[in-house]
Amino acid sequence: MSRAERILLGVNIDHAATLRQARYRGNHQSIHAEPSPLAFAKEALAAGANGITIHLREDRRHIQEEDVWAIAQIPRIRLNLEMACTAEMIQFAQKLKPAAVCLVPESREEITTEGGLDVVNQWTRVRETVQALAPLGIEVSLFIGPDKNQIEASHRAGAPVVELHTGAFAHAWKSAHAPTEFERLRSACEQAHALGFVVNAGHGINYDNVKTIVQLPYLNELNIGHTIVARALMVGAHQAVSEMKNLLRSAS
Ligand code: PXP
Repeated sequence: MSRAERILLGVNIDHAATLRQARYRGNHQSIHAEPSPLAFAKEALAAGANGITIHLREDRRHIQEEDVWAIAQIPRIRLNLEMACTAEMIQFAQKLKPAAVCLVPESREEITTEGGLDVVNQWTRVRETVQALAPLGIEVSLFIGPDKNQIEASHRAGAPVVELHTGAFAHAWKSAHAPTEFERLRSACEQAHALGFVVNAGHGINYDNVKTIVQLPYLNELNIGHTIVARALMVGAHQAVSEMKNLLRSAS
């Protein structure tokens, strides 16, 4: 098995809900309206997705609580819930007990320049959230920029997983800055692996730049959303996910 074949694909289906809410926001029946994030999740899993990622935002701009409960019922699903470090979300995750939780920033003051969670400055809150969820068997990951200090703070916070924010790399893609951003991600992967983290990555990955992203060392899982939902509009969810799976399998 090549290194790339070992990289798992988490499909982020938030934007199936974004499209639904664009028409049905405020309608109490909206979770039964089209397009259905639940149906999208099932198609993605049937096409080879290793897990489904959803972000229950405080503003409920896409995924609704009812979506989360419905998707969590899919047999054998590996559900990754993205959430902010708030008391409300901690309680929700404690009830849901998904396989994984990824802690993400939602408000401006929680965000670093790379766009990830500012674990250095939010350390106490992040650590308390990890401690509230990990004992329930939930695998907690921290969505952070490829930054040495953030990785060290994440280690001290006791999370077993980091998800490295690939947004700056994606933004720089095909520009003169791309190799620098790739190098930052590469050394972050090395550092995180050396500290014992499981290393995931995500944000802004598409069918083109993924061929470079998979060259990163020690990658466990990529979480990919927008590009797959966008491609699904053209070819259907099953094919959109299969195509991405094939890119992960065939990239060397
Ligand atoms: N990982 C995390 C933590 C995210 O919040 C998101 C959504 O912004 C993604 C991955 C997927 O990003 P994209 O939709 O750009 O593929």
